Amino acid sequence: MVSNEVLIGASGLTKKYDNYTAVNGIDFEVYKGECVGFLGPNGAGKTTTIRMIYCFLLPSAGKLEVAGFDVHTECRKIKAVVGVAPQEDNLDPDFSVLKNLTTYARYFGISKDEALKRAEEQLKFFQLEEKRDAPIMSLSTGMKRRLIFARALINQPQVLLLDEPTTGLDPQARHLVWDEVRYLKKQGVTIILTTHYMDEAEVLCDRILIVDHGRIIEQGTPKQLIEKHVGKEVLELDYDEKLPVLLKEAFQSARIERLGDRLQVFTDQPHGVFEAFLQKHKLQNVMIRNANMEDVFLKLTGRGLREE
Ligand SMILES: Nc1ncnc2c1ncn2[C@@H]1O[C@H](COP(=O)(O)OP(=O)(O)O)[C@@H](O)[C@H]1O
Ligand SMILES: [Mg+2]
Repeated sequence: MVSNEVLIGASGLTKKYDNYTAVNGIDFEVYKGECVGFLGPNGAGKTTTIRMIYCFLLPSAGKLEVAGFDVHTECRKIKAVVGVAPQEDNLDPDFSVLKNLTTYARYFGISKDEALKRAEEQLKFFQLEEKRDAPIMSLSTGMKRRLIFARALINQPQVLLLDEPTTGLDPQARHLVWDEVRYLKKQGVTIILTTHYMDEAEVLCDRILIVDHGRIIEQGTPKQLIEKHVGKEVLELDYDEKLPVLLKEAFQSARIERLGDRLQVFTDQPHGVFEAFLQKHKLQNVMIRNANMEDVFLKLTGRGLREE
């Protein structure tokens, strides 16, 4: 259940690396029990923002409070209540799988017995039991991501930060992560996650913040964003030079985009208008599909590649 208590609050939050502004004066709030997704192209400032939330980086300017504590003065308290699965693999290669968890637990002052108990539980859930005593080097990418997620839960955090938790995972492992996120949400854990998978954001997040060039350019529930920016349905069809004119006539307010040899038609009109059009015109390779978050994301951030 999402409450109206603000658990993470940022205003004018800014981070500069020398002269480069990675996070440019952003304001946002995350409510207790909410799962909020940060979506943005590479280099948008997502990881930098997450790092400020768990006191890995100090803001250059602005205010940031986590669970009522100020990141400038109360980092110890923040670290106690936050769990982090960072984007990069920072597992300790000198320790076994189990020892990575138990050692991490000791930073939180968790007793040896309790640490072992929690570690075993996490290994079981994330299906890593067989790897309990294996060295980190022997794990696949998917196993490492799952272990990093498991480690983030060892202190039973109130706030969980997941930076690209499913990048590089196969569909099975991705669903395991989704299940865990849903379970934690039910337990009342407040979650911020970043992802490049729009379907993931759509199914897991109560609210989405779209970031680009260090700023929040839009926010809302997935449903609100889709309805506002894309509409209900998208018509996709093979490009033919006569089509744009025909489509413009049929759907005056429509946005028509050409992607290679396909056309996409976006309209804010209700269900059914595309079917009516298709009954009149016999066309090949046509598809009507529901509008989705990916449509929103590409509309707002463009189709240009962002290399990092
Ligand atoms: N330690 C650093 N020093 C200098 N520039 C950095 C550093 N970390 C990130 N950046 C730059 O800041 C911008 C935002 O990076 P990041 O927060 O990692 O974005 P995202 O996670 O959205 O891909 C990028 O342009 C990146 O190159
Ligand atoms: Mg990142």
